[in-house]
Amino acid sequence: MGIRFVIQFLIAALAFASFTSAACAEDGYDLWLRYNPIEQSLRAKYVGHARGIVVERSSPTIQAAVNELERGLSAMLGRSIGRTALRDGAVVLVTGRQIPGIGNEGYVIRSARLRGHAVTLISAKSDVGALYGAFAFLRLIQTRQDLAHLDIADAPKLPLRMLNHWDNLDRTVERGYAGPSIWDWASLPTIDQRYVDYARANASIGINAVVLNNVNADPKILTPEYLTKVAALANVFRPFCIRVYLTARFSSPIQVGGLATADPLDPTVKAWWRAKADEIYRLIPDFGGFLIKANSEGQPGPWDYKRTQANGANVIADALAPHGGTVLWRAFVYGNSKEDRAKQAYDEFRSLDGKFRSNVIVQVKNGPIDFQPREPFHPLFGQMPHTRIGIEVQLTREYLGQTDGVVFLAPMWTEALDSDPCSPRCGRPVKATIAAMAGVSNIGSNRGWTATKFDQANWYAFGRLAWNPSLSPKQIAGEWTRMTWDNDPRAVKPIVTTMLGSREAVVDYMTPLGLAHQFQDDHHYGPAPWSCGAKEPSWNPCYYNKADAGGIGFDRTATGSNAAGQYAPQVARCFADLNCVAAKDLLWFHHLPWTYRMHDGQTLWASLIERYDRGVAQVETNERNWAELRPYIDSQRFASVSSDLHRQVLEAWWWRDASIAYWQSLSKLPLPPGHSPPAHPLSWYQAVRFDRVPGFLAPRIDPRTLCVAGRGGSSCAQ
Ligand code: GCU
Repeated sequence: MGIRFVIQFLIAALAFASFTSAACAEDGYDLWLRYNPIEQSLRAKYVGHARGIVVERSSPTIQAAVNELERGLSAMLGRSIGRTALRDGAVVLVTGRQIPGIGNEGYVIRSARLRGHAVTLISAKSDVGALYGAFAFLRLIQTRQDLAHLDIADAPKLPLRMLNHWDNLDRTVERGYAGPSIWDWASLPTIDQRYVDYARANASIGINAVVLNNVNADPKILTPEYLTKVAALANVFRPFCIRVYLTARFSSPIQVGGLATADPLDPTVKAWWRAKADEIYRLIPDFGGFLIKANSEGQPGPWDYKRTQANGANVIADALAPHGGTVLWRAFVYGNSKEDRAKQAYDEFRSLDGKFRSNVIVQVKNGPIDFQPREPFHPLFGQMPHTRIGIEVQLTREYLGQTDGVVFLAPMWTEALDSDPCSPRCGRPVKATIAAMAGVSNIGSNRGWTATKFDQANWYAFGRLAWNPSLSPKQIAGEWTRMTWDNDPRAVKPIVTTMLGSREAVVDYMTPLGLAHQFQDDHHYGPAPWSCGAKEPSWNPCYYNKADAGGIGFDRTATGSNAAGQYAPQVARCFADLNCVAAKDLLWFHHLPWTYRMHDGQTLWASLIERYDRGVAQVETNERNWAELRPYIDSQRFASVSSDLHRQVLEAWWWRDASIAYWQSLSKLPLPPGHSPPAHPLSWYQAVRFDRVPGFLAPRIDPRTLCVAGRGGSSCAQ
């Protein structure tokens, strides 16, 4: 056999291997921890830095780090990599080191010489630091970084990085689009491998806390039957240093404890919470604490007893304090006054600054309403200096298309994190004022974990930003793409570009120029700017757009609700001033005539139409760009993203057409040249109804279901 033949054979075999890896099916279960084999041409270089793993001592957490290194290195390098004695090329994990600047959870990764051997040293103070360091080392290889001269030190910027599951005990998930809840309460405490893989994924991005159940809490979660199941999950998560939290219904002393009241100042209620906390900590010594939604959307709370939100939080905080537990008390409170909804949380909480116990964190949504595609930052940020504040963002896309297309949320979250509340002075962005970051989970029991393959990126980005809120969306998208899809720059570049533009595209085709909450009622899927019939005024799109023949937008200046006045003076002045407010926030703060002249000289009307069309054009471009990526992506994931993107194009047209049809019925203005009229008359869009939308818990059956492109409906069959 001649050498030429051998070379030809090898080339053919390689070509076949790369063909099969691109073509072979993947279901997304492995997330960003795929550990795909490194290209042959680079493999030797990496093998030289990963010849085996050395640990000084073991613990469940160190063992988790070693397991992950073995799994990741072996898969990527195509050979078995296990524990070894000290040798050149070893990866050495050491803990118990006092290293300045990395705190308890940080790590250092350095290329070093140890007893004469060239090694990679992962050192940390604690075992969890070593675990995070191990994942970071794997990430370096997954993203093809050079390992020759490493000198990296990293530590989380926020102490509490938590996922909030809105999962019910019957396995439905409020606003969940990824299948039933991953917590199989019926079979727990039996452990599923999926729970371990969930913990690995969270640890890989630094998430250190999870709330298992819905903020609209079922009191049963605090019964012994369920606490045993919770303890089983806590046991799985412990090696990964993830603490379990629960939501608790404020009225639990009545429903679980059989008391006559849940008044937070009643001694029997105080005693009940203390006893409940003691019971939980006996089962789960590292229990994190409670997340509580009170006096909001029908939930019970301290106001039922004429007590303050601080009274409510403190009684539970006092019960948890002896055990080191924390209360996350949500500021998402509205519907109790006739004020502009955007003002209500501030009105209720601002005056309570300094009245919460030190183990309470007030959890504030990124914006003042409710996870809209765009909102200005919440006015409570920076304005409760004597209270620990956490930011809450939503990974699940309740208001951003739910299961449609690609929507990467990191740009939305950094927009809030980087905002400057100018309180008490400018120069301290939101990210510098918070103690915690919570994300409403987008995880379910779908084989691929999330609703779409690209929703995995929002889980990843949440963890990375909670670890370091200064990371750029571009860096995060780049890392995730390389780990999840491919390292080939011909794939990385277009995928990252699509991701980075995707949130702005949704804003453009759904709610441009500061509009908000234009969704079909209850399930929040699809446009309904005309809708005005819900009993709670602030559930109505008309409440937010205030559109009529004269104009559009919510006057939140001093001539209107003066919500702008809740911000620090410098910020408030700008929001209220038409010469200063950014176009993106215009209609959030101002009611303007359709013919208002924008800074660029266009009318508001023309600007609105242009933005709807810009959004549609962007998602059409995304669909075309994805089609070019077929050579780099396995067939199964390629096809599923293709159909997600196609649905998004149809959705964007639907939003654009329905919105324009409605606005035009009021403004009576012609469309600017070059913009096409809506495909149907307004009445057609107003008749669109869905009888089933995932994540919405009380589906309505409506016989008038139309055929909606990409979404079905009874008349599609005819
Ligand atoms: C939104 C969402 C609800 C959820 C609520 C909350 O209003 O639609 O389903 O319960 O937020 O954050 O508590």
